[in-house]
Amino acid sequence: MKKVYLETFGCQMNVSDSERAASSLESEGYEIISDENSADIVLFNTCSVREKAEHKLYSKVGKIRSAQNLKKPLIGVLGCVAQLEGETLFQKNQGIDFVLGTRAVGRISNAIKNVLSGHQQFVDLGEREDDHDWTVSETQRNSPYVGFVPIIEGCNKFCTYCIVPFSRGREKSLSAVQIIQQVIDLRRKGIKEVHLIGQNVNSYRPKSEAGLEKFKGATAFSRLLRAIAATGLERIKFTTSFPRDFHTDIVDAINENDNLCNWVHLPVQSGSNDVLRAMRRGHTIESYLEKIDKIRSSPRTISLTTDFIVGFPNETEWDFQETLKLVEYCQFDSSYVFKYSPRPGTPAFQMIDNVSEKEKAKRFLEFEKIQKIYQQITLQSYVNKTVDVLVEKFSSKNPRQLSGHTTCHKVVNFESNFESNKELLGKIIKIKVTKSKSNTLYGNIL
Ligand code: 5AD
Ligand code: SF4
Repeated sequence: MKKVYLETFGCQMNVSDSERAASSLESEGYEIISDENSADIVLFNTCSVREKAEHKLYSKVGKIRSAQNLKKPLIGVLGCVAQLEGETLFQKNQGIDFVLGTRAVGRISNAIKNVLSGHQQFVDLGEREDDHDWTVSETQRNSPYVGFVPIIEGCNKFCTYCIVPFSRGREKSLSAVQIIQQVIDLRRKGIKEVHLIGQNVNSYRPKSEAGLEKFKGATAFSRLLRAIAATGLERIKFTTSFPRDFHTDIVDAINENDNLCNWVHLPVQSGSNDVLRAMRRGHTIESYLEKIDKIRSSPRTISLTTDFIVGFPNETEWDFQETLKLVEYCQFDSSYVFKYSPRPGTPAFQMIDNVSEKEKAKRFLEFEKIQKIYQQITLQSYVNKTVDVLVEKFSSKNPRQLSGHTTCHKVVNFESNFESNKELLGKIIKIKVTKSKSNTLYGNIL
């Protein structure tokens, strides 16, 4: 039995693809292991959003190839770097045996068979098969209680800095019937929370909607949300949302369905309209704030998270201050901030990357300092409150401590003196929050 080690970088879409690749290999008789040193086949599912993520791949491959052990595993590269680089990866790094694009993950065992039968430097960048079996086996799921359900793949937005439309291709929505069937199956298997995933989930528009007027009070996405809510699954989260397509009916759907969770991730990228225009985001600060106001006016406390890029070409100190003002106004529950990283092939790559590395680092740190204050204020506001937590795992440091997420996607750790803590796993229980630290809430079972 061949042993396979699979390591994943990047977004939830990659995690979901890896779950599926591992499940398909397992069903073909491969053993999926967690120790890369005893693997016959090492797979890297890669991310190319920033340059750093790409470098990580080359250093990983180099490390395996220079190791002194007897086993010389086959090395396969999957995901976004594979899709973009194709066979040029073999020149860039001699250690790689095969390359499988973002749409070819379903054919992973075919790729391995080809290489094992002597077809060196095998490449598959072909299209996804429509009828591919996307079943994820219980052993290969990232969490036994949380299931990822891709609803839309790819991206049509072409923000000027972003490589995703090139690495993942055009937007393609899955059929609503297929999605709902998957959710029903997951519920039957004991999954408590699904994450509907996609680069822009709220741009969801299946083929059956083609030709329909764009927005008649209820977008295809909010109708999908309501249909999924009707399955009765305990928790439904969705990520990532795109501001321009974030219509008020999404908040209405959340307000009307308890099992649609209190969390919206809505990347804004910058607080300056000049920068947003140069990024070709298709929204302004004013239009973004209208959406935020709608979210904040919900009777539920909906947690709001976002992404920012600092140091985009021509971003001035004034632009950056506008970003900080936006952070202060919106008081995001948390934000991911990234230093701009030029990606070859994107329109922004033609611009001069004229904010120095030193300035980018300074803005990054200043941003983090302010953001952390608001994050702390938000977390602190949960102290002495009772929250519902889906218990997902034991803490790796302390076996008496369990960990899970709230409906607003906050991590909660708590001590438990129950005889059989194991029985709490997979349950949604009430926790009284007693304190907050930088990213986590702590509490006790009520
Ligand atoms: N440089 C820096 N950050 C980027 N992101 C996407 N492309 C780049 C880039 N070239 C960030 C955006 C996006 C998140 C997933 O990654 O903030 O929302
Ligand atoms: Fe990239 Fe913009 Fe598409 Fe998001 S919406 S994946 S940032 S191009």
